[in-house]
Amino acid sequence: MKKFLLGTNWKMNKSLAEAINYTKQLMPIIKKYESFDFFIIPPYTHLWKIKEEIQTANSLLKLGAQNMHEEDFGQFTGEISPLMLKEIGLDIIELGHSERRQYFNETDEAVNRKALAALKHGFNPLICIGEKLENKNYGVSKEMLAKQLKIALTDISAAAIGHFWIAYEPVWAIGVGGTPAETPYVNEIHNFLRSVLIERYGKNGDDIPLLFGGSVNINNASDYAQLENVDGLFIGRSAWEPQLFEEIMQSVKTVIG
Ligand code: PGA
Repeated sequence: MKKFLLGTNWKMNKSLAEAINYTKQLMPIIKKYESFDFFIIPPYTHLWKIKEEIQTANSLLKLGAQNMHEEDFGQFTGEISPLMLKEIGLDIIELGHSERRQYFNETDEAVNRKALAALKHGFNPLICIGEKLENKNYGVSKEMLAKQLKIALTDISAAAIGHFWIAYEPVWAIGVGGTPAETPYVNEIHNFLRSVLIERYGKNGDDIPLLFGGSVNINNASDYAQLENVDGLFIGRSAWEPQLFEEIMQSVKTVIG
C-alpha cells in the first residue's frame, strides 16, 4: 500500500544549529506514525550534517534538496549538480516550486530537464505545479496545470512510476498572504490531475503520488488528507516547528489511520 506522504520544505530558513535541533526532535516523533512516509527539504548547506544525523539515528526520515542543475558539472556559477547531491545521499529533489518559477524564471521545460536528470541519478523528483490567481480567475486553472504537468513529464516513461511525486500547490495559496484553498476545489483539481496522469500512463497513473501544498495547517490538513486523490501533504510554515508538525500528523492520522 502507498504510504501517505508528509513533508516540509524549509525554503531559505533555519541556521545549521536550528536545522540539526529540528531534525533531532523530529526523528523520534515520526517513529510513532508508521503509516506515513516523512521527508524534509532543508537548504543545501545543511544537507550533509542532517544526513549524518539521520544515519546516526537510523531514521526513515527522507531528505531532499530544494533545486538542482541538470548538468553533472560545468560553467554554471552558483549551481549545484546531481553528482554533488548524490554524494550526500539524498532521496528527493524538489523541482519547479512556484518561488523558483516566479523569482528564478524556472520554466516547465527546465523542470522537465531537471526531472529527467534527477531520475537518471536515482533521485525521486518532487515536481511542483500550480496555477496563479489570474489563471483561476479566468477559469483556466486546469489548462495551465495540464500544460505544466505534461511538459514536466515529457520523456518520463511508465517505468519511472514509483520514483517521482507530483505536488499541486496553487500559487495563490502559498506562503504568508496566501489564501488556503477550499477543500472541494482541491478535490476537483486532484481528480483532474489524476485523470491527466491516467491519460498519460494508463492505469499505472493511479500509482503516482499526488501531494497537496499551500497554507496547509492544523485546521485544514485532515480535510485535504481525506480526499481520494490526495496522497500526501507538502507543508511550509506550519511544519517548521516539530511540535506543530506533530499536531498535523495527529490530525491527519485521525482520517488516514
Ligand atoms: P506554506 O508553503 O505551507 O507556508 O504555504 C507551502 C509551500 O511553499 O510548499
